[in-house]
Amino acid sequence: MKTIKEVDIKGKRVFFRVDFNVPLDDYQNITDDSRIRAVLPTLKYALDHRAKLIIGSHLGRPKGKVVPKMSLSPVAKRLGRLLEKEVKMAPDCIGADVDKMVSQMKEDDVLLLENLRFHPEEEKNEDAFAKALAGLCDVYVNDAFAVSHRINASVAAITKYAPVSSAGFLMQKELDYFKKAMADPQRPFVAVIGGAKVSGKLGALENMLRHVDKFVIGGAMANTFLKSMGYAVGKSLVEDDLLDTAREIMKKAAEKGIKFYLPVDAVVASNSDTKTEIKKVTIQEIPPDWMVMDIGPATSLLYSEVLYDAKTIIWNGPMGVFEKDAFSRGSLAMVESVANSYALTIVGGGDTDVVVNKAGESERISYISTGGGAFLALLEGKTLPGVAALG
Ligand code: 3PG
Repeated sequence: MKTIKEVDIKGKRVFFRVDFNVPLDDYQNITDDSRIRAVLPTLKYALDHRAKLIIGSHLGRPKGKVVPKMSLSPVAKRLGRLLEKEVKMAPDCIGADVDKMVSQMKEDDVLLLENLRFHPEEEKNEDAFAKALAGLCDVYVNDAFAVSHRINASVAAITKYAPVSSAGFLMQKELDYFKKAMADPQRPFVAVIGGAKVSGKLGALENMLRHVDKFVIGGAMANTFLKSMGYAVGKSLVEDDLLDTAREIMKKAAEKGIKFYLPVDAVVASNSDTKTEIKKVTIQEIPPDWMVMDIGPATSLLYSEVLYDAKTIIWNGPMGVFEKDAFSRGSLAMVESVANSYALTIVGGGDTDVVVNKAGESERISYISTGGGAFLALLEGKTLPGVAALG
């Protein structure tokens, strides 16, 4: 994989595929610009080297149609402010108007193309569309780690047509941190896996069995493991069809001498529609009509002990329904435990970055990935198609 530093970009038209899929509120305000900030080093490097910057991204899932509220215009404004220079917004990502704007670009100019997913060909990885995008540039740079698990035209097929293809600094950093943790980790190596469903994390659990010394499990997925061991978990979210699989994973872990930690207590809520009652109970005492919403305080304490001597920690997925304050304590306590450890700490996917930001501890985590599904794909041991396309 060639990196941007190995390519001559001076005065060249450089197409940057980035992931500006940022959250917007109802008034089109960007509520978290981390993904924009994350590619600034690459874009500033290109500006320092007097390239012409053509930037492409998707935003949301417009399904191949023009959806005005998924326009990248708010991003152009924010990017302009962060780069302290004008960022022109193109009306589309291909076509005569875009060609004209690109032909008028001077060194140092920045042009943001409109949402790539307004064209159905993007997600179909269509050659003609990829070729049209590649036609805009002399050099292609993929700095969109977070969408590189998708076989999309601007991520995959485009490399067949761009004269030169390379990776940006964010892409390199994401892959380097992950490799550092996985290839030759300092041990103990702990994987903290949370989130709602075992089904979504099966591949990651299976793959991580080959790497880690300990698993720490939270979120509703813990219910499936607990039920598979015979605990009654009330009305909690459980994947009954995966009880055997859950047992199998724990068996494999035991055979390999991997410690497998599950919650010992929980914050539970009654499912009454009028006023939800909340209480803390041990795992043995979950009332039949109640639901587990978060790990309990004893579990948080136990998990902080588990993480104390860790040298490498990878964390994916919250410990509970952290979006609601009453059920966020377990996830926030996990942030503290991870931040307080002396380990190399990597956090990513499944809104785990949102939890860390909510706790205000992003500075004390070694690396927070910009990827959601892409980070999970790495945990599953997959090669990302966008990375493979860079050769
Ligand atoms: C993400 O937010 O994970 C990426 O931008 C990919 O978005 P997608 O899941 O809509 O492909």
